[in-house]
Amino acid sequence: MKIQIINGPNLNLLGVREPEIYGSVSFDSYLNILKKQFPDVEIAYFQSNSEGGIIDKLHETGFSSDGIVLNAGAYTHTSLAIHDAIKSIKTPVIEVHISNVHSREKIRRKSLISAACKGVIAGFGMDSYRLAINYFANVGN
Ligand code: DQA
Repeated sequence: MKIQIINGPNLNLLGVREPEIYGSVSFDSYLNILKKQFPDVEIAYFQSNSEGGIIDKLHETGFSSDGIVLNAGAYTHTSLAIHDAIKSIKTPVIEVHISNVHSREKIRRKSLISAACKGVIAGFGMDSYRLAINYFANVGN
């Protein structure tokens, strides 16, 4: 099984960026832990700070991978183009957020991408990614 993780803007700074919200672990070190938890799953990782970079990766992996785990960062709340990209591909996408976006500022309660996704996982810290992969690994796509 092949799973693609896509992280959006500012998520390259996990571990450094607002640690009181996002924790103090870098994504690279979390990814090592994640890979050990799913030894039978091929987990690929991509991060981009640009909307086009995220869309290109969705197009590139959205017909060949079994599942996509997408944290679109702030583009979650603004990007109809990412919504359309998710609708354009075959692979199911799970929207994830590290923080509970519903307990934060009002603008973060609205997602333009949720309706195009298989489901949404938010608020479990980095564990949100594991929960999403767990779905694909155990339930399939
Ligand atoms: C986030 C929540 C977004 O509102 C924010 O812009 C992020 C991270 C999260 O993982 O909690 O960049 O997607």
